[in-house]
Amino acid sequence: MPARPSPRPFVTANFAITWDARISTRNNTPATFSSPRDKRRLVEIRAECDAILASAKTIAADNMTMGLPDPDLRATRTSRHQAAYPLRVLLTNSGRINPKLRIFEKTFSPIVIFSTTRMTAPTRHALAPKADLWLHDSPAVDLAAMLTTLRTEYAVKRLVCEGGSQVFRALLLAGLIDELHLTLAPRIFGGRAAPTLTSLAGDYLPQSTNLRLRSMEVVAGECFLRYAICSAALAQSRRDKRD
Ligand SMILES: NC(=O)c1ccc[n+]([C@@H]2O[C@H](COP(=O)([O-])OP(=O)(O)OC[C@H]3O[C@@H](n4cnc5c(N)ncnc54)[C@H](OP(=O)(O)O)[C@@H]3O)[C@@H](O)[C@H]2O)c1
Repeated sequence: MPARPSPRPFVTANFAITWDARISTRNNTPATFSSPRDKRRLVEIRAECDAILASAKTIAADNMTMGLPDPDLRATRTSRHQAAYPLRVLLTNSGRINPKLRIFEKTFSPIVIFSTTRMTAPTRHALAPKADLWLHDSPAVDLAAMLTTLRTEYAVKRLVCEGGSQVFRALLLAGLIDELHLTLAPRIFGGRAAPTLTSLAGDYLPQSTNLRLRSMEVVAGECFLRYAICSAALAQSRRDKRD
């Protein structure tokens, strides 16, 4: 009998992109090119999830706290017996993360950091009172193991990845993304140094990813798309066969 796959949360991702698929400018200016309606959708998607995941780089670039500002969304969560705020999950391979970031000033929900043993002792020491640290003894965080930890230790059943593009790419390549929310903003940035959805333009993915459109809504020039990722299911079934 094939071994049971490790449990992991359902992983959705949420990005705003320009019509030329940029998620930011070459200067990594904060992601403010989409509308207030898109920002509202972002928090609605967060509200449906047990955890929010982003890289330490994106948290710093966007000065994010990963909150849920609308009390109605929090009330809906508590009526579903969920915590008022989703768990906040940060990712860095190098362990370079500034303990003075604004996110650490907000204590509305626990923060969990996945990194490697490359994180320096002073950084570990500074972060330990503010977050749970999971340090993998490998050059990079084992993303599948990270998701299993989130499922088994923190009861995360649904997680939203909010970027950035390198993190999305790594999860996609590992077959760990199930769904994608894309907001197509009516903007064109251009520029080779501006990150696209799957990191900097020019680097091929080893294989293409098939998406199945689940919904599409056009509001005031912006297009809100929701896709199921077919390849994640395929990768999972391949892993099952191999096991
Ligand atoms: N438009 C949108 O919806 C949206 C969403 C999110 C972000 N953004 C924008 O995107 C820009 C940042 O995106 P980005 O692609 O340059 O960077 P990113 O994906 O946010 O972060 C890259 C960093 O994440 C860490 N990382 C990458 N892969 C990893 C893995 N497999 N495991 C663990 N850590 C990993 C590495 O950090 P270490 O070097 O520390 O190891 C890497 O330097 C910002 O400007 C932000 O504003 C836009």
